[in-house]
Amino acid sequence: MRRILTMIVAIFALLQVTAQTTDAKMKTFVAGLMAKMTMEEKIGQLNLVTPGWGVPTGSVVSKGVEDNIRKGRVGGLFGIFGPDKVRQAQTLAMNESRLRIPLIFGLDVIHGHKTIFPIPLGLSCSWDTALIERSARIAAMEASADGLCWVFSPMVDIARDPRWGRIAEGAGEDPYLGSKIARAMVKGYQGTDLSKDNTVMACVKHFALYGAAEAGRDYNTTDMSRIRMYNEYLPPYKAAVDAGVGSVMSSFNEIDGIPATGNRWLLTGLLRNQWGFKGFVVSDYTSVNEMIAHGMGDLQTSSALALNAGLDMDMVGEGFLTTLQKSLKEGKVTKKQIDDACRRILEAKYKLGLFQDPFRYVNEGRPEKEILTTENRQAAREIAARSIVLLKNERQVLPLKKSGTIALIGPLANNQSEMLGTWAVSGDNTKSVTIQKGLQNAAGAGVNFLYAKGANITDDTSFAKRISPFAKPTEIDPRHPDDLIHEAIDVAAKADVIVLAVGEAAEMSGESASRTDLDLPGSQRKLVEAMVRTGKPVVVVLLNGRPLAIPWLHEQATAVVEAWFAGTEAGNAIADVLFGNYNPSGKLTASFPRNVGQIPIYYNAKNTGRPFEGGNPKFKSDYLDVVNEPLYPFGYGLSYAAFNYDTVLLSHDTLRAGGTITASVTVTNNSDIAGEETVQLYIRDMVGSVTRPVKELKGFKKIMVKGHEAVKVEFTITENDLKFYNSELKYVAEPGEFRVFIGTNSRDVKEAGFRLVK
Ligand code: BGC
Repeated sequence: MRRILTMIVAIFALLQVTAQTTDAKMKTFVAGLMAKMTMEEKIGQLNLVTPGWGVPTGSVVSKGVEDNIRKGRVGGLFGIFGPDKVRQAQTLAMNESRLRIPLIFGLDVIHGHKTIFPIPLGLSCSWDTALIERSARIAAMEASADGLCWVFSPMVDIARDPRWGRIAEGAGEDPYLGSKIARAMVKGYQGTDLSKDNTVMACVKHFALYGAAEAGRDYNTTDMSRIRMYNEYLPPYKAAVDAGVGSVMSSFNEIDGIPATGNRWLLTGLLRNQWGFKGFVVSDYTSVNEMIAHGMGDLQTSSALALNAGLDMDMVGEGFLTTLQKSLKEGKVTKKQIDDACRRILEAKYKLGLFQDPFRYVNEGRPEKEILTTENRQAAREIAARSIVLLKNERQVLPLKKSGTIALIGPLANNQSEMLGTWAVSGDNTKSVTIQKGLQNAAGAGVNFLYAKGANITDDTSFAKRISPFAKPTEIDPRHPDDLIHEAIDVAAKADVIVLAVGEAAEMSGESASRTDLDLPGSQRKLVEAMVRTGKPVVVVLLNGRPLAIPWLHEQATAVVEAWFAGTEAGNAIADVLFGNYNPSGKLTASFPRNVGQIPIYYNAKNTGRPFEGGNPKFKSDYLDVVNEPLYPFGYGLSYAAFNYDTVLLSHDTLRAGGTITASVTVTNNSDIAGEETVQLYIRDMVGSVTRPVKELKGFKKIMVKGHEAVKVEFTITENDLKFYNSELKYVAEPGEFRVFIGTNSRDVKEAGFRLVK
């Protein structure tokens, strides 16, 4: 035993020495290179440009960019991909710039590169960090096969406001789960060696607090106490930093009155000094320039503010490129600040192996072999099935039988262009599987399918154009909405069951896609109600990028399936769930409100001094017109199996410093169908030096339970699980009473209690 231990220590020491030598080598190399660089070339490294939105149209690199690359005035490009285009741009840097410094190539690879996975909010509902890591690994392999070495992901902004369209891009409302997912994604993208040709550098964003935009309006002000930041909003960014993320993107919003991009407390005090981040910080798209509109001064002032704050790379706006020399002369920034920023970017390029081989990620043979492969699509299908959440299943209408007649109705039932969801910039709609196709693939010959569109997603052409300024607007059938509904009624009359695919257009969530009305848009509600009136069982499949406020739909539909935007394999994954080839196991990661007035609504809230405890009292913390509870709580999701939770047992009733408590519960599957269940552990600190949430997720386990079997699930609780940031922002666990809750979601739990003694 001792020998093994000695060996492990020796290996560890060796690894550390190797890391130190690599680090030292890198420092020497970068210092040597910087000694040769002019100030203009150093500032050039801080400049990130996009030669054309999304995908290049026409020449790969626009004139100005080409010339700037030649002059060493560009550090990286984003928005282009494909070995040929990347080669062309890199060749320019390598052959025609004075010091031949390779460019870095980035892109918004958010939920897959070309094999598109479910939108991140959907992915998070799998609660399966191994699968999420796998999706990021596949995305990295495909992106690197396409010439890229840097992705603008993961987006880890905690969001409690479904009006905000970008809730689609993150992991929902919980910092604990969000942190686990942040870590998994960074590992998936970066692997263990950034210089490999199939790993890419991740960029955690948007630092910080972007998800708390007031009123859910994008880019809006955020304002919160430090204690809330530290406990509720910052943990996922920190988890990404602790996992070794190579870069961080600053956010558009202000924090404490200073835009994040120019906020020195945030970018230097917290990120570098407190958290020890060693990589580089890139601005968001023109967020340096946007400080002018925020009221921070002209471009020169804003750029100097950003550099002083600790920003290293300026995305698109060229404020650094055009003003830093002047600011240096005027003493508004220092040479050391520019050197530090330049060094961090060169170090990232070094770690990516670009100095050894600038064309490391450029291999014309790779895309065909490695992108959209059968295996990648299969993985996307499995992951998509696991992101689907069963919200209601009355009379066990699901799984569907593979016989009889199914009326497939709805604007999203046979709609290839809306399957991928927001931020699938390199995804190809024509490769995606529609619900109709997926159902037909899975059903076999026994099912007769009928189809009617029934409604448009929206009937408003100018709204449709507004939501997709870069892409083809969502299709609008010119027929009158009532005619579409009548056609659907006729079709439904001939069927045994109605499968109704309704929701949002892909671009109704994501950036700059805030909504104040969270109901189904257009005439879709009328369609659903008309289908319900037929008296046939109605299975509603929802495709949307945010929690919707749809209590009426929950009441009326026989079954409700939340499918999000499930990506390239959407139709197949939805069919797997509807026909029971996969027993759904997804659990919501963001609460569904009953109406917009309940927002922000989240499970880990504080108690008030007047908590509502039932009845119809006056002077309690409630509403006159709606209950406090959400429509569907955090962690909620049904299965075709029937899980029963036994009493929560604790190994001890006292936890001492350094000790552990085991909390266990037995979960029994009272059905014939095997299924996966995510068993959730929540803890409440009953008395604190500051107020504490009524419940906080502190653990979860995904288990497979066969029909009529029981599985015992155990969680180990340590003092660390009880820690929080106190009013001095110290991370502490305070002695006293704690409640433990275990259950199938954040609402339906069994509980027990213990004391922490120190
Ligand atoms: C978004 C970022 C994105 C960047 C580059 C910005 O508008 O906020 O999330 O990475 O554009 O496309």
